[in-house]
Amino acid sequence: MCGIVGYIGNEQAAPILLEGLSKLEYRGYDSAGVAVCDGNSVAIEKAVGKLLNLSDKISGGDALKGTKGIGHTRWATHGKPTKANAHPHFSERFIIVHNGIIENEEALRHHYLKDTEFLSDTDTEVIAHLLQKFTDSGETTPVAIQHIISELEGSYALAIIDKNEPDLLYAVKNKSPLLIGHGDDFNMIGSDAMAMISKTSQFYEINDKEYAILSCKGVEIYTGYGQKIERDTYKAELDVSDTEKGTYPHYMLKEIEEQPAVIRRILKEYSKNTGELEIDTKIIEDIRACDKIYIVACGTSYHAGIVGKQLIEHIANVPTEACIASEFVYNMPLLSKKPMFIFISQSGETADCRAVLVKVKEMGFKTLTITNVNGSTLSREADHTLLLYAGPEIAVASTKAYTAQIAVLALLASQIKNTININLNYELSKVSNVIEALCTDRDKYSLLARDYLTGARNCFYIGRALDYYVCLEASLKLKEISYIQTEGFAAGELKHGTIALIENNTPVISIISQENINLNTRSNIKEVKSRGAHVLTISTKSLSSQKDNIIVNDVHEMLTPLVMVVPAQYLAYYAALQKGCDIDKPRNLAKSVTVE
Ligand code: G6P
Repeated sequence: MCGIVGYIGNEQAAPILLEGLSKLEYRGYDSAGVAVCDGNSVAIEKAVGKLLNLSDKISGGDALKGTKGIGHTRWATHGKPTKANAHPHFSERFIIVHNGIIENEEALRHHYLKDTEFLSDTDTEVIAHLLQKFTDSGETTPVAIQHIISELEGSYALAIIDKNEPDLLYAVKNKSPLLIGHGDDFNMIGSDAMAMISKTSQFYEINDKEYAILSCKGVEIYTGYGQKIERDTYKAELDVSDTEKGTYPHYMLKEIEEQPAVIRRILKEYSKNTGELEIDTKIIEDIRACDKIYIVACGTSYHAGIVGKQLIEHIANVPTEACIASEFVYNMPLLSKKPMFIFISQSGETADCRAVLVKVKEMGFKTLTITNVNGSTLSREADHTLLLYAGPEIAVASTKAYTAQIAVLALLASQIKNTININLNYELSKVSNVIEALCTDRDKYSLLARDYLTGARNCFYIGRALDYYVCLEASLKLKEISYIQTEGFAAGELKHGTIALIENNTPVISIISQENINLNTRSNIKEVKSRGAHVLTISTKSLSSQKDNIIVNDVHEMLTPLVMVVPAQYLAYYAALQKGCDIDKPRNLAKSVTVE
């Protein structure tokens, strides 16, 4: 989703803005723009499509002189992805970039800006004109910012240039992510730490309805009512090299192959000196005191959540429900008497999850966030956090975060109550080794993708129980990056309707890792085969039959999703590669979805 960068310092701003924006590309975008300030004059450049188009237009930044600027990658919400709608937007005095959605923009236009001529279809332009209107009526810029904070409804992270203040830059935040980066003689604004990490590792958090005034030398943070806030910086534990592709052609491939190391890192991070695994006792006490756990998440994280439900119920014997955040928030089920909420989010910024978090906090319930990003909004606002330690995940299609989420959920379950005596240290180490072995078979996955998927119009994944949950994630992976219409089905449910879609050569990928329903799934395979399906089977060694295409070494039966998903991630990767798709940045998708 939209990315924001701002810089004020002594160096040329444009190359720094472009570099920052390149680090935010992973979030998804369809146009980009920058505004660079040289004294009182401001130059604005925008381009539709890739950041490279903008960079070429301004000779990598050399064409725009000035040591202060703001930049933006836009993921269209209001209005098409055109140059006119690309940010920055401006009024006579103010130039702004914005991430978020202003829900009452119509009312504001009607109330304040009846005679204003707009150049774009965006809600952002309304903010630029409101600032103009308020300062024209005599307000100082900080007061005008306080005024817009009181007027705007919805989400916004803003970076603002005031032409009358060449030595200052403004930042405002509500609900959308925004951080301030702090250096010796410069300061920055960014949607996340990655956008600024090559310049600084010191950051200021900025909370909802707060604003900041940046100069070369310092940062002042204020509440929406203008009271100054004293806040210390924190250090982000991010390595610049973690955000590089290295020798890999795509981030997705790199991230798939990082999974064994991620599982090992989780074991290390959650181990005591004695080698025993542990989770903060306060978290465990809160969970033990609840009568039901509600897991809330979106997309791939939701798919990890449904596996988590199974793990917690089976290992810890605590009733658990997994819920889609965007559904849950406006259609809340009847809650138990003493619920506890677990939010799963790779980015820790997903707006749908946050909407639920805000609601259940108001209701007084305990909350835990499982996330990859320390200091992210969901992490800051929940009572507790468990980190994934997966390192930055850049490809839009989530891979290593999914396996990390399941591993942490398994760990959590076993710490709540280990009713099945699972030795997770041993079992997860084994998982890590099995994934490592799977990663040596790239050529095989590439050939299978060519034979089964690359020319296909549609595809079905089938499985039962935990395998069905993997099918949901596997089908999401394939559809989101290769654009092959794919559905994951409970194998037993096919015959109740969906089997009507099976034609000659329709690819059906079956997943078999659960002993008790293995034969049932085998029967379903026969049913689709007899209707012409082209069946590819992924099975565990102990349940395999000779003709299965991918055989995965056995792991504990509750942990099979961690290994069965890996061939599916590769199949999606190679199908997309062979179809010439933009693997790391699939069309229409954003990595961090910061609007509801
Ligand atoms: C977006 C991404 C998905 C991700 C989902 C939830 O839709 O494209 O890959 O699974 O958001 O993101 P989160 O950061 O909350 O895990």
